[in-house]
Amino acid sequence: MRFEILKASLATARVDCVAVGLHDDGVLPASTGTLDTALKGRIKALAARGDLTGRLGETQLLPDVPGLRAPRLVVVGLGPSKGFDRRVWRKALSAALGAVLKTKSTSLALGIERPAAPQLDDYYAGRAVAELTHAALYRVNDLKSGRRPQPHGLAAVQVAGAGGSADAALRRGLQHGDAVAAGMALLRDLGNLPGNVCTPRYLGNVAKDLAREHRTLRAKVLDEAEIKRLKMGSLLAVSAGSAQPPRFIVLEYRGGKAGAAPVVLVGKGVTFDTGGISLKDPAAMDEMKYDMCGAASVLSAMKVAAQLKLPLNIVALVPAVENMPGSRATKPGDIVTSAAGITIEILNTDAEGRLILCDALHYARRFKPAAVVDVATLTGACVIALGHHHTGVLANDDALARELCEAGVRADDRAWQLPLTDEYTEQLKSNFADLANVGGRDGGTITAAAFLGKFMQGVSWAHLDIAGTAWLSGAQKGGTGRPLPLLADFLIGRSGQGA
Ligand code: BES
Ligand code: MN
Ligand code: ZN
Repeated sequence: MRFEILKASLATARVDCVAVGLHDDGVLPASTGTLDTALKGRIKALAARGDLTGRLGETQLLPDVPGLRAPRLVVVGLGPSKGFDRRVWRKALSAALGAVLKTKSTSLALGIERPAAPQLDDYYAGRAVAELTHAALYRVNDLKSGRRPQPHGLAAVQVAGAGGSADAALRRGLQHGDAVAAGMALLRDLGNLPGNVCTPRYLGNVAKDLAREHRTLRAKVLDEAEIKRLKMGSLLAVSAGSAQPPRFIVLEYRGGKAGAAPVVLVGKGVTFDTGGISLKDPAAMDEMKYDMCGAASVLSAMKVAAQLKLPLNIVALVPAVENMPGSRATKPGDIVTSAAGITIEILNTDAEGRLILCDALHYARRFKPAAVVDVATLTGACVIALGHHHTGVLANDDALARELCEAGVRADDRAWQLPLTDEYTEQLKSNFADLANVGGRDGGTITAAAFLGKFMQGVSWAHLDIAGTAWLSGAQKGGTGRPLPLLADFLIGRSGQGA
């Protein structure tokens, strides 16, 4: 996709389609007003007789409008002019893009005025345009037989800019958004793949492919024997019941100064979570193919970092396993020794994410990281607490938690911090080992994080629970691409390349 800044006026732009916005209360945004004048008041006239409503997200396609060089005009409703904010603007933009993609337009000029809202500067407008354009074009990598629908031919999007230095920021936002969108497509594709395709070995190959694509990335994929040598007894306890061998992926990106402490990203890579011997209910168990979305998030974040050549050192670690109830499976009550030497009584084999993450977090220490961020579809309790709108953030460093939440606000990929205080750790007491792997139903998201925190003492660390945000269920079942916008913003911010 080519993203450019519109040089001509909307009326004279040499494109297949022009898109503008309209409020439902008669207020014309400036860009729409200018175009309307060039079109001799056509838009106003259509609005006055009720043919253009301006209702939020409603779109009208007007062909062959006299005075418009482009053969098509899409007018999207922006809702009331009062309360027109960033979220509403994004909604309208998505709706307009949807309408454009119903046509055969291969080029588009976007003149949808944005609100004077905080944190919707030129950079973020560019990011949003690029990310939403790619989101509108995204097609699920389904395995349906029959003819594949042709990909849409939209190849160029021109955005109206304010001129001067604003255009530089807009251009950078478009470029960054393009990279983030490519990462989101990878993340969504990996999540959507079925468990019989996306195995631990498959994830290892994704890391190797990324390293082949980008010379700044180096991949190391450890097999079962090497994982045993690292004494990752907790990780191995999870993969014990599966015929699929585990992998431990180390993907390094060196974009910063040679000695600079890296950010370490750790992603939960359970390629399918049956629950193990503590078998899950059948309802919606298929969705546990998404239990590797943390892994896919951190791999995708590396792709973005490499594509944008961020001046930062980053390491992605992925413990990849399948959680199955085989004859060699770990049983409730089994006690294992983690790589850190901490013994764990596994009371519930369905609390497997923390068991693989604790060994990966311990491994992260060897990099003397500036910060560690793990990403995991860790607890159903997080979906109860925050629903599907906010990712859960828990941390032993409030500044790091704030940094992540602020990245989420800017990137429109929001996260909310939950408390992580000492009391919760008490729920993890075991009579037989250093730690139990479950702390009861109450505060389940927090006790899971408290378990992880035991392995991160003395390291600046945050945990993102994406159980509610990584995918959607029901008719729109599929990966969302979250929390990549947040992660990308965090990394861009750390590298000093932000807005
Ligand atoms: N992968 C699940 C968490 C999950 C469940 C994410 C539903 C999204 C939707 C995780 O491995 C798990 O099973 N967690 C248990 C923990 C419990 C046994 C303490 C859970 O949340 O029920
Ligand atoms: Mn589980
Ligand atoms: Zn799981």
